[in-house]
Amino acid sequence: MSSYFPATRPRRLRRNEHLRSMFQEAEFSLDDLVLPIFVEEGIDDFVPIKTMPGVNRIPESKLASEIERYARAGIRSVMTFGVSHHLDETGSDTWNDNGLVARMSRIIKDTAPQMVVMSDTCFCEYTSHGHCGVLHGHEVDNDATLINLGRQAVVAAQAGADFIAPSAAMDGQVQAIRSALDAAGFSQTSIMAYSTKFASALYGPFREAGGTALTGDRKTYQMNPMNRREAVRESLLDEQEGADAIMVKPAGAYLDIIRDIREASRLPLAAYQVSGEYAMIKFGAQAGAIDEARVMRESLGAIKRAGADLIFTYFAMDIARDGI
Ligand code: PBG
Ligand code: ZN
Repeated sequence: MSSYFPATRPRRLRRNEHLRSMFQEAEFSLDDLVLPIFVEEGIDDFVPIKTMPGVNRIPESKLASEIERYARAGIRSVMTFGVSHHLDETGSDTWNDNGLVARMSRIIKDTAPQMVVMSDTCFCEYTSHGHCGVLHGHEVDNDATLINLGRQAVVAAQAGADFIAPSAAMDGQVQAIRSALDAAGFSQTSIMAYSTKFASALYGPFREAGGTALTGDRKTYQMNPMNRREAVRESLLDEQEGADAIMVKPAGAYLDIIRDIREASRLPLAAYQVSGEYAMIKFGAQAGAIDEARVMRESLGAIKRAGADLIFTYFAMDIARDGI
């Protein structure tokens, strides 16, 4: 009797909340989340970032108390971005051993030694032109920038950073940083490589948050968003250069890339839900179009499902406060 009764009924496993949660495949927890923070020197009060509702620049003088609050809420790790008042042509404040990069890690480690500190390692927030390295004419000089990345990495490691996280998108940056760290005696400092970083329009709000001076774009060093094979190639290069973990950035519009890299490498893989992704959810919810809490969780769960182990997200404190 060929019948109109379906042979298989996936709906059986969806009949109630218990069944649905038993058969849920992907999930994320607070252990998987890293909170990126913006720390500004020389100010006394929090500065709200208008394009990222709920996110503030933290005055350096209040960093310790903020970190205490995060630690109490259960945050495991932060990524530090400095908002500098000491800009110059090369971003030399980043390798001053009492510059903002060093002070951020030192303050955090003095306040909460268990907090895993990832030091974003770039120059764009410290250069007068806003590019991610040494500018020669209209070109960012790759190899001159590598030397400065090595200097900054050593200073951050000395200040206590657990991870150096190079985001400058220079060729060979992981190898340059690894050898600078090893030569300075920091063989235990890890590298979280921004290994596949696209030249994305989704970084828009970050430019306000970090106060970067850039006019123009980063397309000669960051990747073309349309390139899938090259995306895998870039992450595999960083693996060969000695990265401890690799990353795809942005996350939500690049889930195919996360999956490709998950299958091509055995390294831990992170994904960065960037400022524009955060802003779209916040403003969409403010306009009444979507449910913020649900879309936030759906977006983070989808990034895990695609294959990420860790997620950098500005929602980390929301999850810490309200639960999964
Ligand atoms: C700069 C840097 C950027 C981000 C992290 N590091 C911006 C850029 O490359 O232009 C983006 C983070 C975000 O948008 O949330 N090296
Ligand atoms: Zn940069």
